[in-house]
Amino acid sequence: MLKIRKIKSSDKDRVTEITKDIWDGDDYMPLVFDKWVKEKTGEFVGAVDEKGKLIGFEKLTMVTEKDAWIEGLRKDMNSEIKGVGIFLSNYLIKLAKAKKVNTIRFTTYFQNVESISLFSKIGFEIIERRNNKFKEIPKIKFIPEYKGNRSEIIKDEKLALDYFHRSKSAKLLNNGINISWVLHPITDKLITDKFVKTDQCLGIIENGEIKALSFFMIREKDELFISYFFADNDKYAKELFQKLKQITYKNKQKYMNIIIHLKDKECNQWFKQFGFTSWEEENDFMLFDLPIKQKGNK
Ligand SMILES: CC(C)(COP(=O)(O)OP(=O)(O)OC[C@H]1O[C@@H](n2cnc3c(N)ncnc32)[C@H](O)[C@@H]1OP(=O)(O)O)[C@@H](O)C(=O)NCCC(=O)NCCS
Repeated sequence: MLKIRKIKSSDKDRVTEITKDIWDGDDYMPLVFDKWVKEKTGEFVGAVDEKGKLIGFEKLTMVTEKDAWIEGLRKDMNSEIKGVGIFLSNYLIKLAKAKKVNTIRFTTYFQNVESISLFSKIGFEIIERRNNKFKEIPKIKFIPEYKGNRSEIIKDEKLALDYFHRSKSAKLLNNGINISWVLHPITDKLITDKFVKTDQCLGIIENGEIKALSFFMIREKDELFISYFFADNDKYAKELFQKLKQITYKNKQKYMNIIIHLKDKECNQWFKQFGFTSWEEENDFMLFDLPIKQKGNK
């Protein structure tokens, strides 16, 4: 019989042991473990067997007070115990429903047959796909194209928010903005706190007006992740992108990554021109939603 308990700091070694064989040792879990354990909202839980051994774990993240997100499902692949994934997921869904949330969602890669099959079985439905694109940054010391670049960190949140809300790209993001593989409902507070106040809002200003704008972050691993990118024309887009590339170099990151809405024609085109490609195929980022029928839940 499996039991649920909270994941604690002291579980780190066991969690690392479980994840070391997943995705050829490329699992991001050890990198986010400390942050996840400390998080006050949501719940990071494990499934333990009769002897108290940790067999698997999963996390409920509250992206807002009313929007729940499920992530980080892993199981010890050497364990014979079946049903660990369903057991943990059902527990977290119950917990989310008790909080009377409006949405329960998760995302996965199109080739992750285990999670697609598992979450479909529980009742999740695919509601959107996006394009996950990356570019490896070669190690070059001198890049002439950076000379005279006018891009700057934008600290004026009103200016940034005005441009963002008016842009075509932002209007497509009904299901939220990508902060890595988690989608966050868009609010001015989110944009201000996550990007403007952290100096991760880059733009080009001409005659007091923004002409191009991007939100980015340095990810746990070795990537610069672009959450939003838009420009008035191709020229500004190229200039803004070159600055992002320079920031990637300066932070000693190896890759740049963006997840683009399928209908975002401009962004899809620009990033193709900038040399970004899919890992394997287009439409590879899948957003799943669990339809909730709950009394009194608006
Ligand atoms: C995903 C994972 C946690 C599933 O754990 P599990 O305890 O074996 O899952 P369950 O026994 O609860 O499986 C329930 C359902 O998931 C699906 N599933 C699980 N493993 C599968 C596999 N190898 N291939 C296809 N479907 C699979 C099936 O639909 C299964 O139902 P079934 O047993 O009736 O066929 C485990 O395979 C794992 O840790 N994988 C590596 C990490 C990963 O991919 N995590 C998901 C990322 S979000």
